[in-house]
Amino acid sequence: MAIERTLSIIKPDGVQKNLIGDVYRRFEQAGLKIIAARMLHLTTAQAEAFYAVHRERPFYKDLVRYMTTGPVIAQVLEGENAIETHRKIMGATDPKKADPGTIRRDLAASIEENVVHGSDAVETARQEISFFFAQADVCPRTR
Ligand code: CMP
Repeated sequence: MAIERTLSIIKPDGVQKNLIGDVYRRFEQAGLKIIAARMLHLTTAQAEAFYAVHRERPFYKDLVRYMTTGPVIAQVLEGENAIETHRKIMGATDPKKADPGTIRRDLAASIEENVVHGSDAVETARQEISFFFAQADVCPRTR
């Protein structure tokens, strides 16, 4: 299996509910390494740009509003098969459909306020990582 990098976001509801440590613990217990992290409060323009792929969807406006209600934490996760591993830890977009033990099933309130975001493919991960991080902000583990 390949060593991959993926972009993870703890969304405003996750930060508000003080779930940062809980979410990070799940990443680390699954063997994923956090190699970059930053907290920021997205502007409307940033949220619109990040979710541009969804701009024709009926939930787009509400999604942009929600993502700008409070700070988020973005991180780069690295590990074997990191994209798929991360998506398994998050669970399905809709917490009602997510498996027990996943972040969204355990911690999320709704299909919109679903605590976390994760890249869905290698190319998306590359784009999403560069949305939040310059190359110099990423710190591959040396020990
Ligand atoms: P995320 O994985 O970040 O991708 C798009 C986001 O849009 C999703 O998580 C949810 O926060 C939000 N969203 C709101 N409604 C829907 C919906 N019906 N289907 C998919 N995503 C939705």
